[in-house]
Amino acid sequence: MASAAVTAAISLPSSKSSAVPSTRTPISPPFERIPFRKVKINGRPISIRAQVTTEAPAAVEKVSKKNEEGVVTNKFKPKTPYTARCLLNTKITGDDAPGETWHMVFSTEGVIPYREGQSVGVIPDGLDKNGKPHKLRLYSIASSAIGDFGDSKTVSLCVKRLVYTNDQGEIVKGVCSNFLCDVKPGAEAKLTGPVGKEMLMPKDPNATVIMLATGTGIAPFRGFLWKMFFERHEDYKFTGLAWLFLGVPTSSSLLYKEEFEKMKEKAPNNFRLDFAVSREQTNEKGEKMYIQTRMAQYAEELWDLLKKDNTFVYMCGLKGMEKGIDDIMVTLAAEDGIDWVEYKRQLKKQEQWNVEVY
Ligand SMILES: Cc1cc2nc3c(=O)[nH]c(=O)nc-3n(C[C@H](O)[C@H](O)[C@H](O)COP(=O)(O)OP(=O)(O)OC[C@H]3O[C@@H](n4cnc5c(N)ncnc54)[C@H](O)[C@@H]3O)c2cc1C
Ligand SMILES: NC(=O)c1ccc[n+]([C@@H]2O[C@H](COP(=O)([O-])OP(=O)(O)OC[C@H]3O[C@@H](n4cnc5c(N)ncnc54)[C@H](OP(=O)(O)O)[C@@H]3O)[C@@H](O)[C@H]2O)c1
Repeated sequence: MASAAVTAAISLPSSKSSAVPSTRTPISPPFERIPFRKVKINGRPISIRAQVTTEAPAAVEKVSKKNEEGVVTNKFKPKTPYTARCLLNTKITGDDAPGETWHMVFSTEGVIPYREGQSVGVIPDGLDKNGKPHKLRLYSIASSAIGDFGDSKTVSLCVKRLVYTNDQGEIVKGVCSNFLCDVKPGAEAKLTGPVGKEMLMPKDPNATVIMLATGTGIAPFRGFLWKMFFERHEDYKFTGLAWLFLGVPTSSSLLYKEEFEKMKEKAPNNFRLDFAVSREQTNEKGEKMYIQTRMAQYAEELWDLLKKDNTFVYMCGLKGMEKGIDDIMVTLAAEDGIDWVEYKRQLKKQEQWNVEVY
């Protein structure tokens, strides 16, 4: 067994934020650290150290993610959930953003052993209109497997507060998202899981990983990217290309922007970052800048990458994005005389096209 550690930086531009005081003891040498310039949360510089303990490097063999060793699912079920304590909850969208998104960290004491790309269930407090406990809602895990504090004892979520006006003109608040966005540090929440294998990240450290996110669909990719760029693992050193496309309504809704920019600074040859800010940007034809509109600007390059057998595409977020992305791929494939539907079917079979939209 060998161990390594890095110092990563967390940047949560927030107007409201709170945290329980940390009682964690610093990790002592001989762990290796990658020094980062610290960034700030509410004016306070914060740096987070990630410690990992991993096996020695091994040759990467292609194992289906469905059979990946050590991936735990459904350890905690709705009838026997894990009661987690909130350590931190921070609004990460600007005050003028349309809607609020919060980043929260829950203590798991290490008993929810998740992988990057999995989700957890949350059972909100209270009863439904029939007087029964609320049903669970799923949330993609927004931290890497070792968590934001690097001790494998936390899980982070990225949650959009659902508020809408119904047909009767009443304002309705989503049950679980409001429960989570309002959770105070120190308070408890019932978690289930972990669940899901669709979004497990590729094991090949030399892969091209194209990540397509709308809004909170960024969650799994934050986990991927922390593992790739903020952590040092002895059995995983990312040497491939990570390319993130993130679509949000306004620049004040850009999620984890500072973290991603820091990664780009650190690994300019291994990380590409493109934002699509739908209500502020347009393309040359004056069309609204959706994620697929931004991708279309790199169409040839993306298509070339898709022809490689170690390119993996991941899509997460709004259901509507899937069709928009398919539409540009149909055109690109047709230029090469390829039927996109069949091509995508093959990519899916080889686990190179991974979709979790809702
Ligand atoms: C695998 C998976 C991962 C997910 N990950 C995340 C994540 O990382 N972050 C995140 O924020 N969410 C995520 N979600 C969504 C999440 O599970 C919840 O669905 C979401 O938070 C809303 O739950 P709620 O309890 O607040 O709303 P609820 O109280 O359940 O209300 C939702 C219902 O309100 C109605 N409704 C919603 N919007 C409108 C509208 N505009 N007009 C009329 N009716 C409407 C619909 O009937 C909808 O079913 C994920 C979902 C899945 C399946
Ligand atoms: N694993 C999962 O399945 C998973 C994980 C996380 C989140 N989610 C889901 O993802 C969704 C994210 O919503 P959010 O409220 O966080 O996002 P948001 O902040 O509203 O951002 C969504 C962005 O996508 C744009 N958009 C709207 N329709 C689109 C389309 N057809 N194609 C491409 N882009 C489109 C929006 O543009 P305009 O608003 O300007 O039109 C906006 O810029 C939620 O429904 C959440 O439940 C699912």
